[in-house]
Amino acid sequence: MPDEIVKILLTWYDKNQRILPWRMVDGNVPNPYLVWLSEIMLQQTTVPTVIPYFYRFLEKWPSISDLARASRDEILHAWQGLGYYNRAHKLHECSILISQKYNNIFPSTYNNLLLLPGIGPYTAAAISSIAFNQPVPVVDGNVERLMARLYALQIPKKDIKKRSTEILQLFPLNHRPGDIAQSMMDFANSICTWAKPKCLSCPLKNHCKSQKLGIAEQLPKREVKKKPTRYAYFLCIERNHDKAFLFYKRPLKGLLPGLMGFPSTNWQPHAWPDAPAFYSQFLPNHDNIQWIDTPIQHTFTHFYLEARVGKYVASNSIINYVPFPNMQWIKSCNINKHALPTLMKKVAKTCGIVC
Ligand code: ADE
Repeated sequence: MPDEIVKILLTWYDKNQRILPWRMVDGNVPNPYLVWLSEIMLQQTTVPTVIPYFYRFLEKWPSISDLARASRDEILHAWQGLGYYNRAHKLHECSILISQKYNNIFPSTYNNLLLLPGIGPYTAAAISSIAFNQPVPVVDGNVERLMARLYALQIPKKDIKKRSTEILQLFPLNHRPGDIAQSMMDFANSICTWAKPKCLSCPLKNHCKSQKLGIAEQLPKREVKKKPTRYAYFLCIERNHDKAFLFYKRPLKGLLPGLMGFPSTNWQPHAWPDAPAFYSQFLPNHDNIQWIDTPIQHTFTHFYLEARVGKYVASNSIINYVPFPNMQWIKSCNINKHALPTLMKKVAKTCGIVC
């Protein structure tokens, strides 16, 4: 049965594969740099979101050695809006390592790829299979869904990756392993979809246990986890005479590492933080803060953030005032030169800053 499944998937893929900028046509093996870059970007992120970033990176840094010469801030700037910023830091670290220690040549095996920064089991499997034709099972969320349904895996979601990998180890992966992996991803993305899978016209329907049991749409079992909400105040402090705003560079550890942000309280669970204690650190005269009525909502992986934004236009007495060493004034026309995450862009927009 695995032989038949692979044959059907490859036939389907040869006709229906998505044309994506990191893929090669006609069975050629793509450049590992393109595969690595795309796979890092595709972690937790959809293909349509990644495509424009991928093109922009390649235009700026056509090879791994070009990327290794970029500064961390340049990479963060090009990554802004893509989220999960640790990926950008690791991408930078990995490019330097490959450039300086590996003579710009990617290792080709799963085990050696796993040693590199930012490369975990999934990414090592994807790169070794797609770029180096190694017969390694590649199991992302799409493949988990496909396997859960094909084999009617009625087990907790957390166990599906391991079980799918075990099943795929029995598949004939020697011939076109990268295409088999990507055929599963594309197939799950367009036929074996989360909602309303196209079971009636599915070319694998005769091999699908969950379709026979009538439970395809219920698999894999979903885990409903409630995300907590955190609360914060942000300050948008404008220097009157030159329309500069007070920003700070976030620490390299923690959320949104190394990106620019507006000063904020702690992002506190359960209740709003003590606002006056916060803004009196920055503003000698805080009566003139204009609080914007509607709070901002932003979704992170493990929590929602609800933020209230206060705007303050500072008089001349504040011209040279920089409350903390990691802070700086940035003119509105220069904000675009810095890496600003989506949350901070929302804050800027709420305050009417055009950047
Ligand atoms: N998601 C992760 N890697 C992918 C790839 N190579 N093709 C399509 N979707 C993917």
